[in-house]
Amino acid sequence: MPNYTNSVWSEATPAPAYPPLAGNVAVDVAVVGGGITGITSALLLARAGHRVAVVEARRIGKGESGKTTAHLTEALDVPYQTLISRFGLTGARLAASAQRAAIERIASFTEECGIDCDFRRVPGFAFAETRAERAVLEREAAAVRKLGLNAALVERAPLPFSIAGALRFDEQATLHPRIYLQGLERAFVALGGRIFEDTQVVAIDEGEPCRVISDRGVVAAREVIVAAHVPIVNRVLLHAKLAAYRTYVVGVDLQDSAGIGDGMYWDMADPYHYIRSQTIGDRRYLLVGGEDHKVGEADDTAAPFERLESYVRVRFGRDVAATDFRWSGQIVVSADGLPYVGHNSLSRKVFVATGYAGNGITQGTLAAMVLADEICDIANPFADLLDATRIKPLASVGAVLSENLDYPKHMLADRLPGSVDEGAEALAAIPPGEGQVLSLGGERLAVYRNANGQLGALSPVCTHLGCLVHWNTAEKSWDCPCHGSRFDPHGRVLNGPAVSPLEAKRIPGTTEEEAPLYDLHEHAATD
Ligand SMILES: Cc1cc2nc3c(=O)[nH]c(=O)nc-3n(C[C@H](O)[C@H](O)[C@H](O)COP(=O)(O)OP(=O)(O)OC[C@H]3O[C@@H](n4cnc5c(N)ncnc54)[C@H](O)[C@@H]3O)c2cc1C
Ligand code: FES
Repeated sequence: MPNYTNSVWSEATPAPAYPPLAGNVAVDVAVVGGGITGITSALLLARAGHRVAVVEARRIGKGESGKTTAHLTEALDVPYQTLISRFGLTGARLAASAQRAAIERIASFTEECGIDCDFRRVPGFAFAETRAERAVLEREAAAVRKLGLNAALVERAPLPFSIAGALRFDEQATLHPRIYLQGLERAFVALGGRIFEDTQVVAIDEGEPCRVISDRGVVAAREVIVAAHVPIVNRVLLHAKLAAYRTYVVGVDLQDSAGIGDGMYWDMADPYHYIRSQTIGDRRYLLVGGEDHKVGEADDTAAPFERLESYVRVRFGRDVAATDFRWSGQIVVSADGLPYVGHNSLSRKVFVATGYAGNGITQGTLAAMVLADEICDIANPFADLLDATRIKPLASVGAVLSENLDYPKHMLADRLPGSVDEGAEALAAIPPGEGQVLSLGGERLAVYRNANGQLGALSPVCTHLGCLVHWNTAEKSWDCPCHGSRFDPHGRVLNGPAVSPLEAKRIPGTTEEEAPLYDLHEHAATD
């Protein structure tokens, strides 16, 4: 049985551990979340002389920043043709220069902090495989020319299969994301920065000072940056402008180049595939990702891996071995194609950063630059464009409405009679290591059977806004289709916006003492 949750980055990089918060502390700025956004913000602010604490629910760098494929590119998930129509030439030009600024900030950090993370400047190729895709690419080439990007249409790319042309972006970059993040983390700690791991923030009270309330104590801070990938404050409004997707990657151990040149590549399928290679130690890996779907909406979460394996077989002539890497992660897409960065609604002291889609290594860095400037009272050229409270441009209103429709749809459809299996037979059919939402004794329960065959039950009602979770067999998690919260088999939060665990329940016919029927802490959360 292949391991679905192990990223290629986890192999060679044991991370230092930081203690949980013990009691209360006071700092200038509290940062919630230790991914690319949180650690970059923390370092920039510590460099500017602020006392900063990072509060991380699990381990630093093991959220989505530990699952990324780290293409650092000026090309965004949303084509520039679309961005021009939404933000005008000036806005799209600013978005492109923001991407460049983030790549250069990352390049500077690797030098300033001496981070040996294999930062490489490589070309990026958006490639077409059909004539129709080629026509779209030609229009995109015209759009990026207007923006002054260093990009050109070419007939070939260094790939082992034939293509119908590509748009080549020069001076893009790749790196080893975990080594990079660990380098930033070391630089932050060397400046006196504090990190608290295994400390989950459950609420933020804005005031003077703000109070960041966690399960371990309270951090008092003048300002707070919520860098939790999705905001855990602003439980409704901002989420109406966001949609959470799962995306999948296979990492294949290659004996040779497999015909793939130095560069990164993405196709024009919907959802698209993204491709690059990475050397780690004495091994070279082919990384192929894609097959995205909305969180909680795939019936069979092992199938995307099978489709990626087939893609690798057909395009690269390689079989993906059971020992190769397979992992998935979450991306959060904004309604208009640009991230939301800045003040949380009307708040003056609490800041959010989210909606990076598949560009979060650059956009998390960008968000950190914007928020650090805001806190240091420095005008930032990208702050207005990314303003988290924007509802413009009007073109995004339709997208906001359609994302919002998913919420009532799931609230109703998932509760209809007959939408889940019922009774003792369905319960008995759950195999070890799997979960299912069932109706038992007239009540919906999220039931998991552990490797020893013991059953445990939870309420399937998501603790964010009440949708019903679905079982994700690849990642062994309960996933909420409404705003992307995820919980481990025992109900603990893996991804927000939820901050509270699923409620433990009793399986009808068992006694109070028997529920849950197994040790809730038996399994560590997935990587
Ligand atoms: C498979 C995959 C491939 C990708 N490929 C690319 C790519 O090629 N290029 C690119 O630019 N981007 C890519 N991305 C996107 C990018 O990796 C992410 O957008 C980015 O890493 C998000 O960074 P973050 O700091 O916002 O979130 P994270 O790295 O997830 O950090 C957030 C942290 O907050 C913590 N947290 C959450 N809730 C709480 C709480 N209540 N209390 C305390 N802590 C909390 C989490 O545990 C986590 O550690 C990819 C993503 C995935 C999943
Ligand atoms: S994530 Fe919002 S209801 Fe579950």
